[in-house]
Amino acid sequence: MEHRRMLKAVIAGILNLVCYKLFFASASTTESDVTALKSVLTAWQTSRLNWTGNDPCGLHWQGVKCDGATNTHITQLSLGEVGIQGRLLRSIGGLMNLVSLDLSFNQMLTGPLPTELGNLTKLQMLNLQSCGFTGSIPAEFGNLAQLEFLALNDNHLDGNIPSSLGKLRSVSWFDLSQNLLSGNIPVSTNNQQNLGLDNLTAAVHLHLSRNFLSGLLPKELCYMPNVIHLLLDGNNLSGPIPSDVTNFQAMEILRLDSNQFEGEIPTGINNVVSLKELHLSNNSMKGTIPDLSNLQQLELLRLSINLFDSQVFPNWILNLTTLQTIEMDEDNLTGMIPPQLFELSSLEVVSFRSNQLSGVVQLDNVAKSLASIFLQNNNISDVTGLTSASQYQLILGGNPICNDTRNKLLSSVCSAETILESWEPDQLHSCNISCKDDKLLTPACACAFPLILLFQFNAPSFTHITDDRMSNLHNLLQNYLYLTTDQVWIGSANFTDDDRLLANVLIFPSAIESWTQEMVSRILSRLGSNFTLNEFGPYQLNYILLPPLIGSGNKTLYGKSIIAGVILGVLGFIALLGILGIYFWHKRRYMKLKSSSKLSVSWGSVKGDAPQLKGACCFSYDELSTATNDFSPSNQIGDGGYGKVYKGVLPSGQVMAIKRAKSGSFQGGAEFKTELELLSRLHHKNLVALIGFCYEQGEQMLVYEYMPNGTLYDHLRGKGEGLSWQTRIEIAVGAAKGIAYLHEMADPPVIHRDIKSSNILLDKNFMAKVSDFGISKLALVGDGANANGPFSTQVKGTLGYLDPEYYCTERITQKSDVYSFGVVLMELITARPPIENGKSLVRDIMYAWEMNDVDTLQGFIDPTLQNYDHKDLEYILRLAFSLLKDSGAARPSMSEVLKFLETILARIV
Ligand SMILES: *[C@@H]1O[C@H](CO)[C@@H](O)[C@H](O)[C@H]1NC(C)=O
Ligand SMILES: *[C@@H]1O[C@H](CO)[C@@H](O)[C@H](O)[C@H]1NC(C)=O
Ligand SMILES: *[C@@H]1O[C@H](CO)[C@@H](O)[C@H](O)[C@H]1NC(C)=O
Ligand SMILES: *[C@@H]1O[C@H](CO)[C@@H](O)[C@H](O)[C@H]1NC(C)=O
Ligand SMILES: *[C@@H]1O[C@H](CO)[C@@H](O)[C@H](O)[C@H]1NC(C)=O
Ligand SMILES: *[C@@H]1O[C@H](CO)[C@@H](O)[C@H](O)[C@H]1NC(C)=O
Ligand SMILES: *[C@@H]1O[C@H](CO)[C@@H](O)[C@H](O)[C@H]1NC(C)=O
Ligand SMILES: *[C@@H]1O[C@H](CO)[C@@H](O)[C@H](O)[C@H]1NC(C)=O
Repeated sequence: MEHRRMLKAVIAGILNLVCYKLFFASASTTESDVTALKSVLTAWQTSRLNWTGNDPCGLHWQGVKCDGATNTHITQLSLGEVGIQGRLLRSIGGLMNLVSLDLSFNQMLTGPLPTELGNLTKLQMLNLQSCGFTGSIPAEFGNLAQLEFLALNDNHLDGNIPSSLGKLRSVSWFDLSQNLLSGNIPVSTNNQQNLGLDNLTAAVHLHLSRNFLSGLLPKELCYMPNVIHLLLDGNNLSGPIPSDVTNFQAMEILRLDSNQFEGEIPTGINNVVSLKELHLSNNSMKGTIPDLSNLQQLELLRLSINLFDSQVFPNWILNLTTLQTIEMDEDNLTGMIPPQLFELSSLEVVSFRSNQLSGVVQLDNVAKSLASIFLQNNNISDVTGLTSASQYQLILGGNPICNDTRNKLLSSVCSAETILESWEPDQLHSCNISCKDDKLLTPACACAFPLILLFQFNAPSFTHITDDRMSNLHNLLQNYLYLTTDQVWIGSANFTDDDRLLANVLIFPSAIESWTQEMVSRILSRLGSNFTLNEFGPYQLNYILLPPLIGSGNKTLYGKSIIAGVILGVLGFIALLGILGIYFWHKRRYMKLKSSSKLSVSWGSVKGDAPQLKGACCFSYDELSTATNDFSPSNQIGDGGYGKVYKGVLPSGQVMAIKRAKSGSFQGGAEFKTELELLSRLHHKNLVALIGFCYEQGEQMLVYEYMPNGTLYDHLRGKGEGLSWQTRIEIAVGAAKGIAYLHEMADPPVIHRDIKSSNILLDKNFMAKVSDFGISKLALVGDGANANGPFSTQVKGTLGYLDPEYYCTERITQKSDVYSFGVVLMELITARPPIENGKSLVRDIMYAWEMNDVDTLQGFIDPTLQNYDHKDLEYILRLAFSLLKDSGAARPSMSEVLKFLETILARIV
């Protein structure tokens, strides 16, 4: 009977309430954590943090993450670029469980670093870069034994580097650059504690650039086993470079430029064969430059502006076959440049300004990569091989050759100045759109607000900016941040005068998303977790310009809407009970009427004849009974609330699926007729086709095309062969096509209302077809619920797939199907049911995602899934998240979903 379905809906409703309470009820954050955080807050002003209530964990405060198991301890504060003004109070030390603390890019967060930060002994990540901190680095930081990542760069910190930092034995990233630090570099031999930076045996990156450090380059640093980037440029270091440099184990980038180093370059540096970049410019090095021909990986050699003795152009340079950039300005070089130099196959930039080089520059054979030759102020008397078609720029101002004013070609090369390289992309668009509201044109020819990032690459391996390199940067960022090509745009790039590369990068939301705080946080936290991008080397972000965020602070709002949802749900439940009473009364009357009017082959009390069915025929009970061996259990292929499904074979050999309503789920004749008429109007290759029906002998049966591969649900539960990645995406595309047809092509449009994996069937080629329109409703425009009678306010659908907005508001729209489809996508990836052992799959995955908990995420992925591209999987996850948004309006339409899925499929096939 109808009331059983009602009861089921009610039960589902109650269950849902339980679910919500279970999943979203406030956990209570540990008292001491709340107290500490609230106290820290008293010194902060920020318009962008929307923290309310007393339960940071339970209410999902923006940027606050808690431990996964109990949700009671605050383990992460990710508050990069949230506009904090004020100071960091000592009470931060009370957040004893913090594993990760990120306050970067709050330039107005000033004052000293509290020593209590050293109490946070569980910290693995401490990112305070680009804030306004002053004062010295507390020696207590040395207590952070678990710390792996320390970034204090770009503040106003002064004083000495405390030797206690040598206790950070886990630290791999150590960045104190761009501060006002002074004094010696502490090492184990220059203090009584026997402790210093040489004790950082796990360190890979040691960045101390652009401070006021003085004294010697300690020889102890040369024995650190793992350091690959040692950046000491822009300090006041002096004395000789120790011959111990020959002991560098793993060194790739050595930046010692812009200091006051003196003495000779130690010959032993020729043994550091891992070196890719050697920067010694702007020092006071003397003697002659030693042979460095063993450095067979060297890409960049900078020795400009030192006090070298006069020497003939060193021919060992010709052995450096990987060299891209060589700069030896003001280095007292004499003689002729050997023509073979220009043939080095990777060479791009050659700079020998202000030497005493003489003779003829022979450019008859040059490497294709050659871009610039700077030879100002030498004694060059002639040049050969130069044509007006030459790809490279040559600058010869201040050489005798330029006194010959007769040569037209020469006049173009005889300027004196070198301009710093800069790059801008070619004009991108032919589309004729002008954007409003300060939005910018995206690479996909749409208008959107970008997230703007200025990258500062601290030691790029090149000095020539090419389209290829920038497109490489584009790809690196795109992949690293899981974006699509159209979401990234490199706006410009140039070099600073201390050889750093600045790149302006614009990131746009994808077509299916608008900016939210979560998206921005995810991008920034990803960029803030590694800080190296291949050939671009280590970087920092110089500024971040946020787009306007929709639903900013919606963590808090989310919490609220759920609570509101629960309250609404309770009210709805009470209302439903009321309606149920009235319903039973109605029902009894209705049943009485029916039994008296003899339910048999008539279409109930509805006027008119058999339904108008396009291509669907009317079967007799006997025909279907024969086809199914008298509905034998061996023919049964499915069982649902409405009744059983049988496989049947007609005498003609045609196979079909027969859905036989059990007596309790009968519809009235009128409803059956309406549904039949609805179904018979829907024709699409991704909808299971209705072949016919039977309405006699007290039976209601629907006859569908037979789908030999059963339901998606069964396949994902291991009842069928494992589905390949491509098949899964094809199934997603097929189902999306079917649903998009219902929403956007069917006339009138139809809302399915019960999208789930067991309603997605697979034909013999594993093509997906959507089935079971049992509770579908026409999507009448402006149809709240009332147009369908008093009972349509009941929430129908299946637990686990139910759109929370529909559940709370009882307003059904196409976006409710979109939500349910999002759950199906999650099933496709994980092969797990949406609710298992009382846990919500969707919620658990979302949580792991927000926590950036890669291991847990990985654990969710169906272990039988193989040969998939991780990036594609990430895209599908992201898509699913956008479908599972709380607000229907924020979810994409089914046709947008389809477009996205098809893009991914096109990449796989
Ligand atoms: C926190 O650090 C301060 C100063 O570093 C120290 O005096 C205090 O005992 C520490 N508190 C705890 C609970 O470890
Ligand atoms: C620091 O390293 C040096 C050199 O390896 C070693 O002699 C010294 O004992 C270390 N200091 C500590 C406190 O481990
Ligand atoms: C160039 O070398 C000569 C002789 O070795 C030396 O006297 C002179 O000072 C050097 N010039 C510079 C600028 O270092
Ligand atoms: C440098 O090149 C010369 C000539 O090609 C060759 O004889 C010499 O062995 C090379 N030296 C090294 C260290 O590769
Ligand atoms: C070039 O000519 C100028 C005068 O026109 C002279 O002063 C200068 O010394 C010449 N330069 C060379 C390198 O011959
Ligand atoms: C380099 O780029 C930055 C940021 O776009 C800009 O401020 C600066 O003026 C540029 N410098 C040069 C020399 O073009
Ligand atoms: C971080 O950078 C290193 C060095 O470039 C790279 O090997 C590693 O894969 C990166 N980690 C992630 C998570 O991308
Ligand atoms: C913060 O939350 C309140 C409601 O709690 C809301 O009215 C306000 O708009 C939110 N502010 C931001 C910036 O999201």
